[in-house]
Amino acid sequence: MDYNKFYSADVPSFLKSPVREIFRAVDLSNVCSFAGGYPAADTFPVAEMPALTARVLEKYGTRPLQYGATQGIPELCEVIARRYNVPVSQVQITTSSQQGIDVCTRVLVDPGDIVLANNPVYLGALQSFSSYRAKVVGIEDYLSQAAAPSCRPGKPKFIYVIPDFNNPSGRTMTLQEREELVRIARELDVLIVEDSPYRELRYSGEPVKTIRELAPERTLHLGSFSKIFAPGFRLGWIIGPEALLDKIYTCKQCLDLCPPVLNQFLAAEFISSGALDANLVKTIDAYRQRRDKMVSLLEKYMPSGVTWTHPEGGLFLWLTLPPQVDTVRMYDKALARGVAYVAGSFFYTDGSHRNTMRLNFSFVDEAKMEPGIRLLAALVSGSEVPDIE
Ligand SMILES: Cc1ncc(COP(=O)(O)O)c(C=O)c1O
Repeated sequence: MDYNKFYSADVPSFLKSPVREIFRAVDLSNVCSFAGGYPAADTFPVAEMPALTARVLEKYGTRPLQYGATQGIPELCEVIARRYNVPVSQVQITTSSQQGIDVCTRVLVDPGDIVLANNPVYLGALQSFSSYRAKVVGIEDYLSQAAAPSCRPGKPKFIYVIPDFNNPSGRTMTLQEREELVRIARELDVLIVEDSPYRELRYSGEPVKTIRELAPERTLHLGSFSKIFAPGFRLGWIIGPEALLDKIYTCKQCLDLCPPVLNQFLAAEFISSGALDANLVKTIDAYRQRRDKMVSLLEKYMPSGVTWTHPEGGLFLWLTLPPQVDTVRMYDKALARGVAYVAGSFFYTDGSHRNTMRLNFSFVDEAKMEPGIRLLAALVSGSEVPDIE
């Protein structure tokens, strides 16, 4: 049967994530994977989970197994409000920050509307924007077009940014850059969606004010438990102006009625007992070592002409290779020899920058990091090196 006639006009705009396709095709336990944004499994509080679950069920009885409030259970909303110093009324719990991006886009965007974003862009955000048929335009491109009166583009709906430890670039915006972004948003009178799943994973340098702190009246700040607790929980939050959250709240009722209730109780208990912060100290320490190890391996093995970012936090490094290297074509060779990464061009709306790649340092088995980087370096420089075991 031909099902095509049944699909909505949105369906052709659904994009498959090349990163998730990599995971579908590859058994991660068998390769040296620099590909996904997976946290290291040994940062998960596995040993604490039985006691945590028992405590939650003893304290709250059947509530963790019942439907909960659309905003999120009050216990978790209060914990988030206290942690980030905002009123509870400015908190909405989400079923992951991917849902946060999606629900913001659904509430704010009509087909054909412009969303401004930095290039390269987080793939999951590109997928959401595209699914609502938004037009993604680079901030710089928009501003230069807007300066030429002959080709004035439409008015954007919001600016999407990842100010801390960007996925994929690893970059962190300076305070001046954030202030400039806020100035532009105010001048254009657009909202800002500040996607911030990595903010608490800082390994060096000093925290910079969030965009929300600089412009609370026009910012929807998205947080996530995925990188600081466990992505399997699928929990995140949005902090923003009450009027905007009210629309998001109503939209969320269409999506899932309420976020997963048991997971919310576990998260609330994990934070309020102090266990999250204790676990974070260990996680940050482990990730700092991994970042430093990857940087030193790149210094050791990569040929001249290759550069990379030195992120102050987060999970990714961004490599720029000599212009003749095509990381899309190189990928199959790398995978056949046991190494996975993500080609940088996947994060560009126009598929450009084929000489870039994103490397994740949190997930890879530490023993495989050195042979993995050595193999990538050999492929870049066209020399021979043994496959990864
Ligand atoms: C920038 C960014 N935003 C959102 C997400 C989605 O996170 P979550 O697991 O909370 O859906 C990710 C995941 O990697 C990400 O890198």
